[in-house]
Amino acid sequence: MERIAVLTSGGDSQGMNACIKAIVNICTTRDIVCIGVNRGYQGLIDNDMQFLNNEMVENIDFLGGSYLKVSRSPEFETKEGMEKAIKNLNKNEIDAVIVLGGNGSFKGAEALSKEGVKVIGIPGTIDNDLFYTDKTLGFDTAVNNAIGAVDNIRQTLAASNRGFVVETMGRKCGDIALHTAIATCAHAVGIAEFKTTIKDIVADVKHCMKNGVTSPIVVISENVDYSMEDVEKALQKELGIDTRSSSLGYIVRGGNPSVCDRVLGIQWGVTAVELLLKGKHGLALGVDDDKVIVVTLHEANTAKQKIDKSNYLNLRALHNLK
Ligand code: F6P
Repeated sequence: MERIAVLTSGGDSQGMNACIKAIVNICTTRDIVCIGVNRGYQGLIDNDMQFLNNEMVENIDFLGGSYLKVSRSPEFETKEGMEKAIKNLNKNEIDAVIVLGGNGSFKGAEALSKEGVKVIGIPGTIDNDLFYTDKTLGFDTAVNNAIGAVDNIRQTLAASNRGFVVETMGRKCGDIALHTAIATCAHAVGIAEFKTTIKDIVADVKHCMKNGVTSPIVVISENVDYSMEDVEKALQKELGIDTRSSSLGYIVRGGNPSVCDRVLGIQWGVTAVELLLKGKHGLALGVDDDKVIVVTLHEANTAKQKIDKSNYLNLRALHNLK
């Protein structure tokens, strides 16, 4: 193993840079050339790459975003795109590729692996939607960012006894919204996994207001089929409470990584290179009960969607909701 490439694909996430740094550092100590592919799979197709060294990555571990940039590459999903990518891997004498990304990027990683390329996948997405692992890189920081934003909103809206609705990112996964709701003691949470309707949200808020809540908090995920404005209007109409709404959007995806995401990024970066040096590939790294786990890329891509219902039940118990 002489040359290892690393790329970041899909949406960037906090902890990717810590992981890139770990990969570069560990490659250097093992006399392996580390090549950074810019802009994810599109960079493979366009032969857009750079040699990485320790100096370049010395001060990136504490930053959000991705030093290597990201992209979503529809071209990589085509036969021609894959052929170009493989041609460039061969041209640059790259022995293996470490892919950091979410579920779309993992499908690409498995496809590359099926073409005979040695690949390791590292789950990098704020969405926490790769279900073989307890956490993906960026999820913890994204939730912390969301909590910080809700804390700020609470202070200003509580000053005028207003209700508020916050929408978080997460694509098809409600985990960011659910964790934000619990950590902020929200009075209602709307996520697709629990099929929560606007009617359910209004009923929960009504119950909490009867029990003395003056400034109810509602957190919804972008994965529900109604908007935060719909919920805002329903609360105003049904309960007569002055309500505001905010989408947290990209705020949750930026910012310095939390300790959890730094540690995961570094552990996974080191483990990925070590596995490749042992001749192992076609694998994905994850975490289970704070221990690094290794599964096949296929297992990673076929793991069933799950969400921890106990979190939801605890939140309901907190407010004595049926
Ligand atoms: O997958 C990460 C994510 O931030 C999702 O939560 C969100 O739906 C999506 O990316 C936004 O994508 P883009 O950055 O392409 O607008």
